[in-house]
Amino acid sequence: MTIAIRRAILEDAAGISAVWEAIVAEKIYSAVDRVFTPDEQREYLGALSPREARFVAEDGGRIVGFQTLDRWSNFMTSTLHVGQLGTFVLKDYRGTGIGPRLAAATFDFARAHAYEKLVVFVRGSNSGAQAFYESLGFRECGRLTRQVEIDGKYDDEVLMELAF
Ligand SMILES: CC(C)(COP(=O)(O)OP(=O)(O)OC[C@H]1O[C@@H](n2cnc3c(N)ncnc32)[C@H](O)[C@@H]1OP(=O)(O)O)[C@@H](O)C(=O)NCCC(=O)NCCS
Repeated sequence: MTIAIRRAILEDAAGISAVWEAIVAEKIYSAVDRVFTPDEQREYLGALSPREARFVAEDGGRIVGFQTLDRWSNFMTSTLHVGQLGTFVLKDYRGTGIGPRLAAATFDFARAHAYEKLVVFVRGSNSGAQAFYESLGFRECGRLTRQVEIDGKYDDEVLMELAF
């Protein structure tokens, strides 16, 4: 399979929404428990500031994963150097190096846009994603206990950070 990594465009909204649908249905990887519709994704992509980006992994026209770099805050200048990440790859495509390739694109963008550190929230039970972010250099720096409740099951959220 040949996977292309590129910056998301508005036309990717439906494909990204389909990835959300799969992740939300799995229930174990994210605190997000409802699907963002194509219209919501289009609105989100259109509203990104010049210092924010979403990179997508595409296999023959199908979006199979994405990574988002958002500002930590959209109302304070004191945290302009801090970005927040999220990464989601479809099940059949995990374990093939897409996550690291998305991260390489995001990190290049982040460095070029004056970010000095990146932060990510990962569910406490999601040891695979924690290992993924550790492999990129992130380290755990905090934990919110019983922060997520889905179908009556509680989970922590682990906070991880990486300084460039
Ligand atoms: C976590 C995720 C983004 C990683 O992307 P990926 O393309 O599958 O990443 P890779 O398998 O290429 O892994 C890269 C490195 O991360 C680590 N890693 C990834 N998944 C892992 C797992 N399940 N267990 C242990 N280590 C893991 C390994 O160090 C791996 O390097 P290696 O292959 O040389 O051992 C992807 O698996 C995913 O989307 N998972 C479901 C959604 C999710 O949990 N998102 C994170 C929410 S914050």
